[in-house]
Amino acid sequence: MDMIAPCIRWVSIIWGYILRLFGQTKAADLPSDIVVDIFSRLPAELVFQCRDGSRMISTLTTSSSFIKMHLNRATSIIVLQYAVVFETLNFRKGIYESHVPLCFIDEENKKIVKRRLQVSFSCTFEDRWPLLLFQSCNGLLMFENRSVVVIWNPITQEHTIIDIPDSSYVCGFYFHEKTGDYKVVCVRKLKKSLKLIIISILTGSSKQTTWFSQPPHPKAPVILNGLLHWMVWGEPYGRTKCTTLKSSGSIFSFDVDSENIRTIARPTGKNDRPMLLDFVHLLKKEGFLCFCDVTSCTYIDIWILEDYEAEVWIKLQRISLDFLSSSNWKYTVYPLRALRMDKDELIVRWQNILYRYNLRQNIAKKVEMRGTEELPGYYMLLHTNSLVSPHTDNILSFDSPSGTK
Ligand SMILES: *[C@@H]1O[C@H](CO)[C@@H](O)[C@H](O)[C@H]1NC(C)=O
Repeated sequence: MDMIAPCIRWVSIIWGYILRLFGQTKAADLPSDIVVDIFSRLPAELVFQCRDGSRMISTLTTSSSFIKMHLNRATSIIVLQYAVVFETLNFRKGIYESHVPLCFIDEENKKIVKRRLQVSFSCTFEDRWPLLLFQSCNGLLMFENRSVVVIWNPITQEHTIIDIPDSSYVCGFYFHEKTGDYKVVCVRKLKKSLKLIIISILTGSSKQTTWFSQPPHPKAPVILNGLLHWMVWGEPYGRTKCTTLKSSGSIFSFDVDSENIRTIARPTGKNDRPMLLDFVHLLKKEGFLCFCDVTSCTYIDIWILEDYEAEVWIKLQRISLDFLSSSNWKYTVYPLRALRMDKDELIVRWQNILYRYNLRQNIAKKVEMRGTEELPGYYMLLHTNSLVSPHTDNILSFDSPSGTK
């Protein structure tokens, strides 16, 4: 670990060399596949800066094959929205501005970068709602404020704004391989059915599917093998805001190619009882869907969907929460969440603190966040910086047929 800090200092020096090398010599001097290979291992930010220095670098690093290779090699970082800010009127420009303050925490390289998403718009007289961080996908961050979705690349600063259709809520966005298009998923709840509205960012067009059961929960989906998964949004339970979850049909699954919807049963134990939805969530591990039950104060149960078609769940592991030594833990109903499961590691979030839990050794280690865990307000995601473009800077409108306005 101690080796990393000096390496990072070297990166900018190496970058200087690279820039001079490519700036002075002709493209033929170094085979382009070697150049591509070097650049695909550099941080997205550095690659983006290098584009200004050389035409050749710019051409090579804007190709979609390069962007894909770079994305696959990049490691994930933590992104944290640390304040919820309502829009302000910029008197000088006579426009309204929304901004979202974010912190990017690169644990491995011991680096913290603060950035702001800034969106301006002219005044409309409607109820205001702040932009909130919702999802990360291929290096793009998605925010929503109940009337629009903003998809933004924090490195290239490109963004796209998409209107959320009337009386709908947003459930996430995904990349559709076959069409090379990003799509936003919205849901309109009707009396006896719901409409799933899929909006294409490339064309601005939308498609609807009708479904006669529970809608998906407005949370980022778990994307796996071309399928999107959400917990369903059940009936409200008691006076709390939680909703209960019956076992059958508790997971909503959407196939991005066929656009078919189905539901999957959640795992059930011996003494099955309705579960409070706010305390369970989905994850993925090596191509399998996982179910994370945090309804207990003393352990987390992780299940794995071993047979997708037959809906067969196997309990993978019970994780003791002893590592949350905080004395108030047992008295708070603060939802504990597992953010990611990779090979032998589970990343668990409690309040603003992250733990890396080793599933083999049963050891938890606190993630070094260098003071940012103290920041107020928190929407936290794992994210990978990339050079992926959200395609357009135009505002896509759901209602206009051409998709632009
Ligand atoms: C959401 O933000 C957009 C611009 O970013 C703005 O036009 C719209 O009025 C906002 N909606 C709400 C409900 O605040």
